Amino acid sequence: MFWQNMTLAVIASVETVLEKWKGQEGKEIEVFGEFRLLTSEVISRTALGSNYLEGEEIFAMLNKLSILLNRNAFMTRIPFINKYWKTADLIESDKLEKGIQECVMNIVRKIEDRVVNGEADNFGNDFLGLLVSAYRDSDEKNRLSLEDLMGECKTFYFAGQETVTSLLAWVVFLLAVHKRFAEGIAKATKYNAAAYLLGPRSCIGMTFATTETKIALSMILQRYSFNLSPAYVHSPTPVITLRPQHGIQIILESLHKYTEAKD
Ligand code: HEM
Repeated sequence: MFWQNMTLAVIASVETVLEKWKGQEGKEIEVFGEFRLLTSEVISRTALGSNYLEGEEIFAMLNKLSILLNRNAFMTRIPFINKYWKTADLIESDKLEKGIQECVMNIVRKIEDRVVNGEADNFGNDFLGLLVSAYRDSDEKNRLSLEDLMGECKTFYFAGQETVTSLLAWVVFLLAVHKRFAEGIAKATKYNAAAYLLGPRSCIGMTFATTETKIALSMILQRYSFNLSPAYVHSPTPVITLRPQHGIQIILESLHKYTEAKD
């Protein structure tokens, strides 16, 4: 059931993107931003009981937070002093943390209200619904703390979105640079498995990410080929994942000019 819903959510989200791209043939689009919207919509719909608009603020704040964390990754923190004296980045990070907590709690309250008002008989079976059930567990020993609820949400929003955005954007970049790369896409998704095992832990979203990537690419590659825009400046920058610093500007080329003209 979950995979069926997830597949439908991905298809619906990719269709929204394709609808937006209609009429953009020959024009420049920035694909990193486009895929960020796509993956945010997918993760909001499948795991977080909301749509992209509700999650939008959270994604924007998490994005800013990741830039600040990355910039200060090697900063020494002095526990006592940092309580009374904070750098501008630390003050901004605290504000973002509070903002994210407020937004997540707004979504959590909506989920709870539905149960209180009798519109639903449980908090739901998606990721956030299960977290809320644990957060409201009547057994104190099993209850999830607010801090853990927030931590889980932040990890999931970020891990579920930023990674697939980068993957899709760099695949499109490679397709634009090397047309023959299309033939290697199927092989590439197999080798990609190694990326999920980096770090001390492993990725719980591997199947999710692979399914999402395959559906999105197969729907997009049936309709378009890509050319790199002269405006593109190559500057991959590590901000947790490897991001294109100035975006990836692509010129879309429709593969079905004749049928689309007839439609
Ligand atoms: C190209 C896509 C992806 C790649 C390459 C990737 C890679 C990874 C890696 C290497 C880790 C371990 C990090 C560590 O050891 O600290 C990880 C953890 C995690 N990933 Fe992914 N990931 C991807 C997509 C996703 C998606 C789509 C989701 C959710 C739907 C997700 C959810 C998570 C979570 C929750 C963790 C933390 C697991 C834990 O706390 O033990 N990931 N991922």
